[in-house]
Amino acid sequence: MNLESDLILVVHPIAVHFAVALTCCALILDWVAHWRQRAEWRFAGRLCFFVGVLALGVTVGSGWVEHLFPRPASVFDAQIEGLLFYHEYGGYGVLGFFVTLAVMRARLPEPLPVPWLVCATIGVLGVLGQGYIGGEMVYRYGAGVRAVQVLSERPHEHKKAPEEQSTEAGTSDK
Ligand code: HEM
Repeated sequence: MNLESDLILVVHPIAVHFAVALTCCALILDWVAHWRQRAEWRFAGRLCFFVGVLALGVTVGSGWVEHLFPRPASVFDAQIEGLLFYHEYGGYGVLGFFVTLAVMRARLPEPLPVPWLVCATIGVLGVLGQGYIGGEMVYRYGAGVRAVQVLSERPHEHKKAPEEQSTEAGTSDK
């Protein structure tokens, strides 16, 4: 892996934070604007929503680029591959859903109708689900984590589960 690929690989973890935060904020602002009919809430919700859809586009694009890069072998490859399948196609689905919502929103008069708000709520749940799966891949199975890959290259030295090793270490210290 060289510097260029290292730089490209940080785009996805950065972009997801914008996508999650902006779509969630937009939803809250839109629901508040629905109850309190104020132009400021509507404007803030609209701004967050459209920038959020843009961030989702960058997230999906960077995720797609990232999955094209060869990943060093890991003992958790099977689990990562399984999750990546749902993560990738779920990501395309969520983006498609939000682009549809954006096209509808651009044509809808304010205040937004409740069915649209309900669909946006479902979409945000989809974004959160995607974040959860991405987190599972990285923080449970170490997708793209250098330390996991290094340890996977020397499986004979790490046959025991971490709990057993720490207990053993604790006992031998005494
Ligand atoms: C709604 C769209 C998406 C969201 C919210 C999302 C979210 C996430 C999150 C939260 C992580 C963990 C990042 C970390 O802390 O390191 C992650 C990892 C990952 N995602 Fe996505 N993702 C999306 C779409 C995609 C797509 C379409 C792909 C294409 C295959 C993809 C590929 C990956 C890969 C390879 C990783 C593991 C390596 C890394 O951390 O970058 N993602 N994703």
